[in-house]
Amino acid sequence: MVPTPKSPSALKFDLVARCSVTKARASILRLPHGPVQLPIWMPVATQASLKGLTPEQLEQTGCRLCLNNTYHLGLKPGQAVLDAVGGAHKLQSWRHNILTDSGGFQMVSLLKLAQVTEEGVRFLSPHDGSPMLLTPEHSISLQNSIGSDIIMQLDDVIATTSPDLSRIEEATHRSVRWLDRCIAAHKTPETQNLFCIIQGGLDLGLRRQCCKAMVERDTPGIAIGGLSGGEAKDAYCKVVDTCTELLPEKKPRYVMGVGFPEDLLVSVALGADMFDCVWPTRTARFGNAITSSGTLNLRHKSYAEDFSPVDLDCNCICCRSEADGGLGVSRAYIHHVAAKETVGAHLLTMHNIHYLLSLMNEVREAILEDRYPQFLKDYFRRMHAGNR
Ligand code: GUN
Ligand code: ZN
Repeated sequence: MVPTPKSPSALKFDLVARCSVTKARASILRLPHGPVQLPIWMPVATQASLKGLTPEQLEQTGCRLCLNNTYHLGLKPGQAVLDAVGGAHKLQSWRHNILTDSGGFQMVSLLKLAQVTEEGVRFLSPHDGSPMLLTPEHSISLQNSIGSDIIMQLDDVIATTSPDLSRIEEATHRSVRWLDRCIAAHKTPETQNLFCIIQGGLDLGLRRQCCKAMVERDTPGIAIGGLSGGEAKDAYCKVVDTCTELLPEKKPRYVMGVGFPEDLLVSVALGADMFDCVWPTRTARFGNAITSSGTLNLRHKSYAEDFSPVDLDCNCICCRSEADGGLGVSRAYIHHVAAKETVGAHLLTMHNIHYLLSLMNEVREAILEDRYPQFLKDYFRRMHAGNR
């Protein structure tokens, strides 16, 4: 039996414009900690901190919705501390919105010893090796204590590249059963929005079945999971395209784990609105700058005497000149400090976040003005023209 959804939801979704050629949409998602404009890419602050940035610096990038992970916060500081401090917004001095992933995906991807049963995900604590169990009920209870604006269901995630079709099928149906348990356990639907996560691997039939079952449960938003695990691009696109065809127009659609600029742009054209990925901030810590002419590794010796800004067209605090109130950071400076100092990582983290947030703002403008197909062509032409 399908449980009755617990209304009201804690969001409002206003569709503002649609591309006349592709399935791209521009919308406003009104969340408890303020409105956010979609399409959006969300940076990942795994342990209630975006590595290397203060909350104020994260705010300066323009970020108004970031991710935390339930698995990490549940282990440390743990539920008692989260309850005592009054949730993750207070813990990390963040005034804007937070989305939490439910924990299962992190466990299965981080811990080789995680074991999934109908009850939940069993794993050994990375702190003391003691056996633990994350159930749908426990994940929701933790997310209720975290107080995030968007909470995710616990899902059973299998790599899309797995050859075991029967296991993918089991995981898909189990994810629907776990959604029902999450809905039943969710105590604060009037302040926190529970999103379902569609699974089904690369099997379009399974994806369709899963979409139908999940849509019936009527959650405030819908995620497409189980992708970005190394599958071929055309297989990825077919799954996103198939799912968005079956999803209601009037709800936000979130594709999990996407962060390469070209994948963001294509996924928006296929009708998706929200994305997250650790790659842009992780790669910053390895000296990589995302720019309109591709990703540059500033550790390379060719940048040792390159005194131009990280990205000529970027308006972030690092790239802006001092005359414009910025820091006027050069590629040579990042190159020089990258090997020994963490400041290069901090600066590139700010740049990369700002770069992707403004890219998505440009995407939104292009959709509003109904010139998204031309925007795509220009972006890809420029990217393939190579480094400047
Ligand atoms: N992050 C990236 N993909 C997934 C997924 O399928 N499920 C969850 N919970 N998180 C993800
Ligand atoms: Zn910049």
